[in-house]
Amino acid sequence: MSQRGQMKLGMFYWPGGGQHMAAWRHPLGVPDFDVSAPRIVELAKLAEQGLFDMFFMADSLSFWRGPIEAMSHDSAGSWIEPMSVMATIAQHTEHIGLVCTATTTYDQPYLLARRYAGLDLASGGRAGWNLITSGNDTTAQSFGHAEHVEKSRRYAMAWEFAHVVRGLWQSWQPGAFPRDKTSGQFIDPDKMFVLEHEGEFFKVRGPLNVPPSPQGEPVMVQAGASDEGRELAAATAEVVFAAQQHLENAKIFYADVKRRMAFYGRNEDSLKIMPGLTYFVAETREQARADYDELQDLIDPVMGLAMLTNRMGVDLSHYNPGDPAPVIPDNPRGGSRAKLVNELIAKQPGITLRDLYKHFAGARGHGLVIGSPADVVDHMQQWFEKKACDGFNMMPPLYPRDLQRFNDLILPELQRRGLYRTRYEGRTLRENLGLTRPAWPLAREHLGLDKQIEPA
Ligand SMILES: Cc1cc2nc3c(=O)[nH]c(=O)nc-3n(C[C@H](O)[C@H](O)[C@H](O)COP(=O)(O)O)c2cc1C
Repeated sequence: MSQRGQMKLGMFYWPGGGQHMAAWRHPLGVPDFDVSAPRIVELAKLAEQGLFDMFFMADSLSFWRGPIEAMSHDSAGSWIEPMSVMATIAQHTEHIGLVCTATTTYDQPYLLARRYAGLDLASGGRAGWNLITSGNDTTAQSFGHAEHVEKSRRYAMAWEFAHVVRGLWQSWQPGAFPRDKTSGQFIDPDKMFVLEHEGEFFKVRGPLNVPPSPQGEPVMVQAGASDEGRELAAATAEVVFAAQQHLENAKIFYADVKRRMAFYGRNEDSLKIMPGLTYFVAETREQARADYDELQDLIDPVMGLAMLTNRMGVDLSHYNPGDPAPVIPDNPRGGSRAKLVNELIAKQPGITLRDLYKHFAGARGHGLVIGSPADVVDHMQQWFEKKACDGFNMMPPLYPRDLQRFNDLILPELQRRGLYRTRYEGRTLRENLGLTRPAWPLAREHLGLDKQIEPA
């Protein structure tokens, strides 16, 4: 057993036949994976066989991630609504956590709290909410806004939103629903907490009309790496989904988020930091490399440039893939993801746009490891033991091949080294993650609403 105990793992689902953007074009790729609920359910069942803590779905509320020339080649232009898929998966699995993404910028706290509480009940206490403020600017246009809400305002909304959702999820103390046939008493009002929230963005009266699940309330996950994102995570998140490519940067990110938790009276163990990790694994290194090259060569240049445009926040469509990457200043549209691209350009001056998009397309800004099962597990172990993470959100490039390979090749090696479970420990997501439910009732200061956040 590792000195740090065991790591936590998510299986990160992205539409389009795999995490790699060219997956759907691979000879084994399933081009209509995005609309095939039975296939997604099979994938989740495979992840449960692999003893994953959670099945994790990203989301987007806009078709547009680039111009129509790029979108007409983009498999992520079709994105099935995650909550309905999660509810289906819940009926076909028993242990795996069900985490999906929803935005605090264009949703309503009462509706969101209710949806996730519903999934939590339907799954017997396995739901989690991945809080985002929406990375994609064009989301604004789905909701009648000309421009995406400015970032510091988005985060100000997110703090209040999280506070309201938490307050609603904590509407009922244990025993609040006696449902006593003899006395006729269904609800015990003494065990009810009525949130009376009136803030800058939302006005909401509780309680939530959904009782708690066996894990009390859904697990709070957060994805957002900027200063504002880290602060919000330190105050509210139980899992952070991070995008980190290098060990040293990941260690700094990890230490920074954990350090911020003390201000909110939180123990560092009550938050698990899980960066995304794309892996190409095979019996031999040569085979793993060949699998990687095969998918990389299938990347469409139009999509590659559009992806960089999105990530950098600046239009690159008029460049040729063979041009050297221009230096682009950090900008609000690019956010923390643009910083990652700039770091790479600084390390490799003269890098071509093709090499740059291949670099990011391979893992979409997340970690990447290519090799034998021992190579992949060495990488995971090093990050875990050096406190760069508490586990990973695993990103199989091609479904279901690479998830099956996780189960057959990586899982046994992790288990042999004592780094991962051999069976589920608990019934709920929170139990499997080794987390306890946040205290009831949640004090206002625990959400940090009284701390002034400096705008970036
Ligand atoms: C690891 C990671 C995953 C993300 N996943 C999504 C997603 O599924 N959908 C989305 O709209 N935004 C996603 N985002 C962006 C978030 O919406 C984020 O709240 C917003 O871009 C601000 O991010 P920042 O704090 O990293 O600058 C993600 C960001 C990160 C770092």
